[in-house]
Amino acid sequence: MKRTRIIKQYLLIFAGITLLGTANLLAESKVNTCLDCHVENDIMPGDFLEEDVHQHSEISCAGCHGGDPEAEDMDESMSADAGYIGIPSRQEMPAFCGKCHSKIEYMRVFQPRIPTDQVDQYYTSTHGKKLLSGDKKVAMCSSCHTSHGILPAKDTRSSVHPFNIPQTCNQCHGDADLMASTSHGTSQYEDYAGSVHGKALIERSDTGSPACNDCHGNHGAAPPGAESISHICGSCHLNNMEFFKTSVMGQLSESADYHSCEQCHGNHSISEPSDELLNVNESSLCLECHSDGDEGYVAAEAMYTQIRQTDSLYQAAIIRLKDIQIKGMNDVDIQYVLKDAKQNLIQLRTMVHTFDPVQVKEKAAEGKELSAEAISLAGLEISEFNQRRMGFGISTLAFVLLAFAVFLKIRQIDSNKKSD
Ligand code: HEC
Ligand code: HEC
Ligand code: HEC
Ligand code: HEC
Ligand code: HEC
Ligand code: HEC
Ligand code: HEC
Ligand code: HEC
Ligand code: HEC
Repeated sequence: MKRTRIIKQYLLIFAGITLLGTANLLAESKVNTCLDCHVENDIMPGDFLEEDVHQHSEISCAGCHGGDPEAEDMDESMSADAGYIGIPSRQEMPAFCGKCHSKIEYMRVFQPRIPTDQVDQYYTSTHGKKLLSGDKKVAMCSSCHTSHGILPAKDTRSSVHPFNIPQTCNQCHGDADLMASTSHGTSQYEDYAGSVHGKALIERSDTGSPACNDCHGNHGAAPPGAESISHICGSCHLNNMEFFKTSVMGQLSESADYHSCEQCHGNHSISEPSDELLNVNESSLCLECHSDGDEGYVAAEAMYTQIRQTDSLYQAAIIRLKDIQIKGMNDVDIQYVLKDAKQNLIQLRTMVHTFDPVQVKEKAAEGKELSAEAISLAGLEISEFNQRRMGFGISTLAFVLLAFAVFLKIRQIDSNKKSD
């Protein structure tokens, strides 16, 4: 009697476990009547991608829209009682996405590496501030990310991958009708696409080159203020910024509104700079603000002269090097010295940002010395070449004379034989 009771208890426990297990299995098989019905009726949203991160993590339709993803009936499934919220308005969007993305505890379960500050950041941007004030044109979450085709940013197909960002921003920023009532132009994309940065990213897939968000931020999108521009450019152009910071102007640009990177280089249409920018003629950048004889004018003229002299000497050394190579002489030492001379020129053009002609002159002296050394090494090789050529000429002549003598001798022997 006692034994059957124990067996019964075990059986009950076993049945319980089995039932629980089945229930779990059912839950894991994830019925999704939203998806089923929408697919069946061909009313899937236009931007839907199967690889969408949310579908992938089984957040699926009801995770964002609410409702009951197990109910077969449409009205039941999409009822307010089941928590259905439907489509959020533009103003509601940050909270709609933020109900998950602003929750550390929630996001940590899925992807601990994803930050949870997007909504906070977003409201610091011009986009966010304008949205709060009722503006319907500015970007909100789904404008940049889409709603149903969201991929991790590192995926090259993602709307926020560096390759696609300029186009994502340009959807609005290049739209003249949309921008008409704002204070902004619509040429940012075109200007950017033609710039050193745009060409490197768009034409050569160089992701080291900035896309719009590298300068404007991802969520805190606002134009960088005058004092922060140098820091943004300087995050990549470290040496330019370091030199610039040592200059009086660099220090002043933090407080005053002149001599920031963009005042000389522009922001979207940055082109490859040339020495001519420093020249004191009509192509000079400096003469936009400085005039004949003032400190800026004198500095520009002095730096221009130094850089052009150093460059010319380097070019002369390169011509000698090519000559040596054509003659097939030893070019190893010359190449070695010229590598340093080239490096010096690069540093010299960066050093312009000290705006200190004294430092530029010192650096230029090192470069000139290197190119002069290469030229004198080349001179030695050329005179050796000439000596060898002279030596070759003499030995050829001796050989010809010898051959002629042998020829005469043979003829003499032949005629001796005939006369015998
Ligand atoms: C039995 C079919 C069926 C089921 C189940 C269903 N839907 Fe729908 N859904 C529809 C149809 C049909 C429409 C378009 C007609 C309409 O707007 O009422 C629609 C429209 C929508 C819309 C657009 C609403 C709008 O205002 O334009 C959303 C969002 C949506 N469904 C989400 C869901 C979600 C989330 C679920 C699951 C919780 C779900 N649906 C379940 C059939 C279904
Ligand atoms: C990441 C959150 C998210 C998920 C997940 C999601 N939606 Fe949406 N859905 C939105 C947003 C936001 C909109 C508003 C339209 C917009 O601004 O792009 C929308 C709009 C819609 C619309 C109406 C507009 C349209 O594009 O046709 C339908 C229908 C819809 N969703 C169905 C679905 C279905 C079905 C699923 C599941 C396969 C789903 N949604 C999953 C966020 C989501
Ligand atoms: C102006 C365009 C834009 C808007 C608006 C925008 N995002 Fe982003 N978002 C981006 C860019 C760009 C990235 C980063 C891509 C990268 O990492 O290179 C990003 C990244 C993300 C990421 C990945 C993690 C991270 O922070 O890097 C999440 C999650 C995200 N956004 C959510 C949101 C949410 C939620 C909103 C609305 C509050 C929003 N985004 C609004 C452009 C935008
Ligand atoms: C129900 C919760 C939930 C909602 C609502 C939600 N998300 Fe997500 N989202 C997630 C989770 C969880 C992940 C991580 C998925 C993974 O990688 O496994 C994610 C991932 C992302 C990523 C990819 C981040 C990366 O780089 O890997 C972006 C971008 C994103 N969501 C944007 C949005 C936007 C925009 C909305 C609103 C339209 C939104 N999410 C609404 C939960 C949500
Ligand atoms: C949905 C359309 C839309 C998208 C997408 C969009 N923007 Fe905007 N953005 C606007 C509008 C509209 C304004 C003008 C707001 C105003 O000043 O009235 C604006 C303003 C700006 C400003 C000026 C801010 C200021 O303070 O003057 C910057 C910078 C900016 N956006 C950068 C970006 C970047 C970078 C992207 C892409 C990552 C982007 N935007 C994507 C609509 C958009
Ligand atoms: C190399 C950095 C950089 C890149 C890349 C960049 N911007 Fe800018 N952007 C700036 C700077 C600097 C300003 C000017 C800020 C100021 O004057 O206060 C600016 C200003 C703006 C403005 C406001 C002024 C205006 O022109 O109306 C918008 C809008 C803008 N950028 C959009 C974009 C878009 C869209 C892209 C990508 C196609 C982009 N930017 C790429 C640095 C950059
Ligand atoms: C995300 C990194 C990044 C940021 C931010 C950035 N740049 Fe660049 N920049 C690059 C890269 C990479 C190149 C080289 C492109 C190429 O291969 O031609 C470049 C090229 C340049 C050149 C041409 C150099 C040459 O020798 O031809 C100038 C000038 C320049 N950047 C100025 C700026 C200014 C001014 C800013 C800020 C408004 C800025 N950059 C912001 C990465 C950056
Ligand atoms: C956008 C206008 C502008 C441009 C362009 C400009 N400058 Fe200046 N520069 C100024 C202003 C303003 C001062 C400060 C004058 C003063 O306070 O006496 C200054 C000061 C200087 C000074 C004196 C530094 C000091 O000790 O304060 C030098 C040197 C100088 N600039 C060099 C240059 C060179 C070289 C160029 C060209 C590559 C150039 N500037 C381009 C506006 C400009
Ligand atoms: C007063 C004008 C002026 C300012 C301010 C200025 N630059 Fe320049 N920059 C020049 C000139 C002139 C050249 C060309 C030098 C040459 O080729 O002889 C140049 C060249 C460059 C180059 C190409 C040479 C190199 O170093 O590789 C880069 C990159 C650059 N600048 C970045 C910056 C950054 C970043 C800032 C801000 C921290 C900045 N510049 C501020 C005038 C300026």
